[in-house]
Amino acid sequence: MIDLPDGVRDHYRATGLTERLKTALTVFGPEQARLTPQQLAALDQFHTRGLAATAELAKLAGITAAMSVLDVGSGVGGPARFLAETYGCRVTGVDLSEPFVDAARYLTARTGLAGQVSFETASALELPFGDGRFDVALLQHVAMNISDRAGLYREIRRVLKREGRFATYDVVLKGGEPHYPVPWARTPATSFLLTADATREAIEGAGFRALAWQDDTEAAKAWIAQLRASGPPPSPNLGVVMGPDFAQLSANLGRNLMEGRLGILTAVFSTST
Ligand SMILES: C[S@@+](CC[C@H](N)C(=O)[O-])C[C@H]1O[C@@H](n2cnc3c(N)ncnc32)[C@H](O)[C@@H]1O
Repeated sequence: MIDLPDGVRDHYRATGLTERLKTALTVFGPEQARLTPQQLAALDQFHTRGLAATAELAKLAGITAAMSVLDVGSGVGGPARFLAETYGCRVTGVDLSEPFVDAARYLTARTGLAGQVSFETASALELPFGDGRFDVALLQHVAMNISDRAGLYREIRRVLKREGRFATYDVVLKGGEPHYPVPWARTPATSFLLTADATREAIEGAGFRALAWQDDTEAAKAWIAQLRASGPPPSPNLGVVMGPDFAQLSANLGRNLMEGRLGILTAVFSTST
């Protein structure tokens, strides 16, 4: 088994998560009521700009119904469910956190998408799949938890088909040390941010060729400004998943973006160089 900092697992430990979700979701009706990915978006899209960002990344990656998609670091599965519902593709999610994977399976059953979407507990550095298995791999707000970037991108490339695509949506270092805690790390010990240029170098070094490359920092800042102006967040939200300090983690991410310390990168790569 690959050695990962315990702190990353601890950060996403989320004890009793599925039970907490069951309770929180009673606002949408009884347990047997089918939920939509849109209803869950405030608590299952664990990245800047939520569902809109997933939708844009999927479009940029050119996902179609015939594709087999891997979501690396799939969290509680919101992006995977959205892709399956929107495009009709098959999606496999992999995440380090067992409670997150349990919760992802529960939410997927509640949305009636279990026939198309599945989840496994595993490390992104040791994906439990043979070579050349997937058409597209997605990585949204995960790389900043992983110090071995060369290993991460090599492993993603290994499981992609020839002509496969890798779509990444990442927080990057921009102009100074971030304020902690942030949504992916309560201290710098579990945060492994790179600049956009260093990220590109690591991805290309693993044998990928860039197809799309965009700095989405301004869009993220506009989203933060809108959140600040619109008062308390909708309920239930990611606080159910991450705990009562999530508002503070999220506020620090906003502050880091607004102060130009961090940026947001969207990029799509091909395995054919
Ligand atoms: C900020 S969340 C993003 C979740 C999801 N991609 C989304 O956008 O909704 C980061 C996720 O990465 C997972 N993660 C961190 N390091 C990982 C690793 N080495 N292997 C697999 N998953 C990892 C965490 O458990 C967590 O679920």
